[in-house]
Amino acid sequence: MKRKGSWRTRFGFYWIAVGSAFGLGNIWRFPYVVGENGGGAFVLLYILLAIVIGSSFVIAELMLGKIQKKSVLQATIEISKSSKKPWYLAGRMCVWITTIVTAYYAVISGWVLHFLIQFLVALFAGEEVFSGSWRFLMENGWLQWALGSVHILIVMAVVGRGAQQGIEKWLNFVMPIFAICVLGLLYQSLSLPSTPQALRFLFYPDFTKLQMSSLLNALGHVFFTLSVGLGIMVTLGSHLREEDHAPTAGLRVALVDTITSLIAALVVFPLAFQASPAAITDSTLLFEILPPYFISQPGGIVFGFIFFVSLYVAALNVSLSLFESLVSNKVDAAVGKLDRTSAVWRVGIVILVIALVPALSSNILHNVRYAGRGVLENMDGIFINWILPGIAMFLIWGIRSSYSRKDLQKNFLSSETLESVVLLNPWLFILKWVAPFLILLGYALRIYDRL
Ligand code: PHE
Repeated sequence: MKRKGSWRTRFGFYWIAVGSAFGLGNIWRFPYVVGENGGGAFVLLYILLAIVIGSSFVIAELMLGKIQKKSVLQATIEISKSSKKPWYLAGRMCVWITTIVTAYYAVISGWVLHFLIQFLVALFAGEEVFSGSWRFLMENGWLQWALGSVHILIVMAVVGRGAQQGIEKWLNFVMPIFAICVLGLLYQSLSLPSTPQALRFLFYPDFTKLQMSSLLNALGHVFFTLSVGLGIMVTLGSHLREEDHAPTAGLRVALVDTITSLIAALVVFPLAFQASPAAITDSTLLFEILPPYFISQPGGIVFGFIFFVSLYVAALNVSLSLFESLVSNKVDAAVGKLDRTSAVWRVGIVILVIALVPALSSNILHNVRYAGRGVLENMDGIFINWILPGIAMFLIWGIRSSYSRKDLQKNFLSSETLESVVLLNPWLFILKWVAPFLILLGYALRIYDRL
């Protein structure tokens, strides 16, 4: 059976999956999470978990989609029916958390849009426009909401017209330019006097810096950055052709995504140590550090503009996959009673309302603080570090126990990739034992820490 695919490009399936994984999680979230968690030892933990647990989960989700040819809600309903266990609850939770993540992601994408506009204006009006612009954005929650809303409206227009392929073409066009920008930045960053300090911070594993919360934080970030635990990979997997090999795709996604995150950290940390070391634990790190640096360099305005356009296209692509997943789940669930346009509107309005919370976090809600952190940081912490690992585990448990070993084996082994023979047993073992053990240990340590 073949499912009508809307995410196919001539670059093949990998790039679609990589495109959905690569986004603000790598460039914006990773550096500050590393800063927050003390550097080298956390980076090491993250790399290990991404390769071992993250890639195994990506493979399992893709496989569920490929076998069922459905998005996550319907796919989990199917496995519930066949196994007579309530796995559909995992599907519902995925949709629920996707809704929140889409809203929160829209606000951060709005920040990117803000700098894109600032650089565009600066191209014509000169660099003075920048003075105080970041502070202005942070003090103005309604502006953040407005920018997030513009982002969501763009996403709604694209998804409503089914024009994702247009964005994919854009992505194929801007990503090489983005890669060149980032490599140029990497070269510059690594020539700064603060480089040795930054490298030491990032790669010297001082295990005493790990905290009780680090394991769960690392797992949460791994799932977020690889787009697992929300069912996005199930939807992507549902468009795989018979001959596409989910394990190869999963491994490549995890590798490419991890490498890009490390490069982003290598760009950001030397700059941060040079400019304002105090900012390294802040969720605003990227936006506080990069724009002033661009401005201080000759030709930096053009460079900054290109950088933020590329980052925005990546963020847009991720938002499209999140939004598309919500819409297709809703349309599938209504079995013919809801047309796509109404679904796009309904989902869009819900997202716009939820986005008010993170958007207003830095001003109207700035007194609402918990554990010394504001609303946006707490949303990030609660949904990504606490809830995402649990949902991911639940979903994977459902997949692992609903199929026989023979079914999983049939989808895992491939005559073209002989490594698949070697990797089959470790993969099953990781899904069944290693991942649940580490996730539960992460929760236990975190709770123990709170007591
Ligand atoms: N992986 C994306 C990023 O790194 C974020 C994302 C999370 C996308 C969950 C889809 C699902 O930016």
